[in-house]
Amino acid sequence: MNQQPQPSAVAALAVDLCGISLSSPLVLLSGCVGFAEEYTRIKGFSNRDVGAICLKGTTLEPRLGNPPHRVYETPQGMLNAIGLQNPGARYVVDKILPQLDFSETRFIANLSGSTLEEYVEVARIFDNSPIDALEINISCPNVKEGGAAFGNDPEMSARVVAAVRAVTRKPLITKLSPNQTDIAANARRCIEAGSDAFAVINTLMGMAIDIEKRTPVLGNNQGGLSGPAIKPVALLKTHQV
Ligand SMILES: Cc1cc2nc3c(=O)[nH]c(=O)nc-3n(C[C@H](O)[C@H](O)[C@H](O)COP(=O)(O)O)c2cc1C
Repeated sequence: MNQQPQPSAVAALAVDLCGISLSSPLVLLSGCVGFAEEYTRIKGFSNRDVGAICLKGTTLEPRLGNPPHRVYETPQGMLNAIGLQNPGARYVVDKILPQLDFSETRFIANLSGSTLEEYVEVARIFDNSPIDALEINISCPNVKEGGAAFGNDPEMSARVVAAVRAVTRKPLITKLSPNQTDIAANARRCIEAGSDAFAVINTLMGMAIDIEKRTPVLGNNQGGLSGPAIKPVALLKTHQV
């Protein structure tokens, strides 16, 4: 049986995401496929299936991430506390992006930082690269500083968006946290500050306990819950935004 989608079905799936055309509305989210240099080489990878790939969260300096354990399986999902392990923005742009085939699919950078200045510097580095769009990660629950500290406060979120907007003309996506009181108010402030689109949602904060050791399982104590378990929350937050 021919499993290939018919040409008309392929064309019907194509979408425009704030100015970039995607062959499919499916976007592989940040942190799930590293920096994509392996994923696109998997036999059978097709840009008909994957409209874009969002790269792992990237900071200005390299980060080793959190101590183990970093992942834990939960019913219908998983907890992770990777802690933004990455080789730093300069390395990603100079060494990894040249390995990616930009004719295969679209690539989105995921900007992370501890300070406003760091977000801006990372944005500048990616702005000067072939990357198709920038996603501002102001919602990482797994780092002590930055991340969610910005994303849970609409004014701080807007300040980060405005500062990044000032240094790039590439499409700008803001990744919103579900761990905040009023996600819609936050989204409104981010639009005013120049965000073109949103990624809804980042992970929900959670914890797992090793009952034998009477300690938290994750080295970071807490982590982000993802997977089918959070889909109803994601749908509600998307509806609210
Ligand atoms: C192992 C792992 C690492 C992640 N790393 C990042 C990251 O670096 N930046 C980011 O914005 N989101 C990160 N996320 C969050 C995902 O991009 C996504 O928002 C989250 O998993 C919820 O979607 P899902 O339930 O469909 O997986 C990570 C998720 C997982 C499971």
